[in-house]
Amino acid sequence: MIVGVPREIYPGERRVALVPSTVPPLTKAGLQVVVEAGAGTEAGYPDQEYVSKGAKVVPERSEVFRTADIVAQVLGHGANDRTGKTDLPLLRRDQVLIGFLRPLGSIESVRELAATGVTSFAVELMPRTTRAQSMDALSSMATVNGYKAVLLAADRLPRMFPMLTTAAGTITPARALIIGVGVAGLQAIATARRLGAVTSAYDLRPAVKEQVQSLGGRFVELEIEAKDAQDARGYARAQDARGYARAQDETFYRKQRELLGKVVAESDVVITAAVVPGKKSPILVPKEMVPNMAPGSVIVDLAAERGGNCELTRSGEIVVEHGVTIVGLVNLASTVPYHASQMYSRNLSAFLLHLTKEGKLQLNLDDEIIRETLLTRGGEVANPRVREFFNPEVSKS
Ligand SMILES: NC(=O)c1ccc[n+]([C@@H]2O[C@H](COP(=O)([O-])OP(=O)(O)OC[C@H]3O[C@@H](n4cnc5c(N)ncnc54)[C@H](O)[C@@H]3O)[C@@H](O)[C@H]2O)c1
Repeated sequence: MIVGVPREIYPGERRVALVPSTVPPLTKAGLQVVVEAGAGTEAGYPDQEYVSKGAKVVPERSEVFRTADIVAQVLGHGANDRTGKTDLPLLRRDQVLIGFLRPLGSIESVRELAATGVTSFAVELMPRTTRAQSMDALSSMATVNGYKAVLLAADRLPRMFPMLTTAAGTITPARALIIGVGVAGLQAIATARRLGAVTSAYDLRPAVKEQVQSLGGRFVELEIEAKDAQDARGYARAQDARGYARAQDETFYRKQRELLGKVVAESDVVITAAVVPGKKSPILVPKEMVPNMAPGSVIVDLAAERGGNCELTRSGEIVVEHGVTIVGLVNLASTVPYHASQMYSRNLSAFLLHLTKEGKLQLNLDDEIIRETLLTRGGEVANPRVREFFNPEVSKS
């Protein structure tokens, strides 16, 4: 079987789906890799490296799609909402497509993908189980995003992060607040601490308190309880069975904003990474809160793509409001393309090895990993979770 790696075409995207070091294990498993010329250049992986690892480099994008049994992308149609459509005519029935496809984004793009007849797998749907951990691309990219968010904040802040005692006096450390302690938030805490900031963090899932503390952060406790906060055994349940946060009602969010306001005002840097999958991100930093921050403070909103956690965030832009810099850049992982590609590539090759046996596709739907990530097949939207998400009534009947 041939795995095709086209060059990414989302404007500004610098990652590549497979890096040269993952070619040999795939070849050994009976999968030949065909790469579009220049696909890895922006990420720091020149064509010669692919060739030396046993991949074939071809000049034409259309040739990659034509020869590939499996197409591996970073941002496929849906996740690439700018130019992804141009690849649709290149896909063919029963060809396999793997990538970020934004399955809970818009039903139109999912249907367009289905109409090509392609058997597509969305990496966003990877179950959060120990078995699937090595294939979890969402976590890999969140790690890069959390790291980069702190660097962006440090770059724009008119202060230094660490405490310094110098002949010219003492420099007080920056105060960083991380809201939303998922994978990205944890990496942001670790990075802010490494740079020497006094770091606090808040999440509605009390279960993360220990993780925050183990990274040297202070966990901010608010006097409110999230809906479904406890189950029958008294365990915290602000998250669902898959480890995602549950959406809360407006009364909760209002109270949360009131209590968070004071902590935000005292922070030089606020990094927000609070998302609820498939839903618009909750506003945790409303516009009234921003003027209370010291001039020069920075907010980096990692939820910008999904509406943002700060009301003044403009998706894809950096704005200054009331003297506060608000960074709403999206697709941050693409700005650290070498390691982001390396991590994504490892996730993808683990998935490819799981999906194939002796070089042949094994579409075993009894396997949770395959069943849950399968998005479209045979012209249909094959994923029950996605179908129900877009049309809850029809799915129930
Ligand atoms: N294979 C695995 O077992 C696996 C893989 C990945 C993540 N996880 C776990 O899943 C959990 C979620 O990780 P994620 O990175 O996908 O998170 P995410 O991107 O879904 O959400 C980010 C964080 O925002 C928080 N949040 C949402 N609404 C909030 C609000 N109103 N106020 C404050 N915080 C809010 C969430 O609780 C979550 O911690 C983590 O505990 C992570 O360790 C497990």
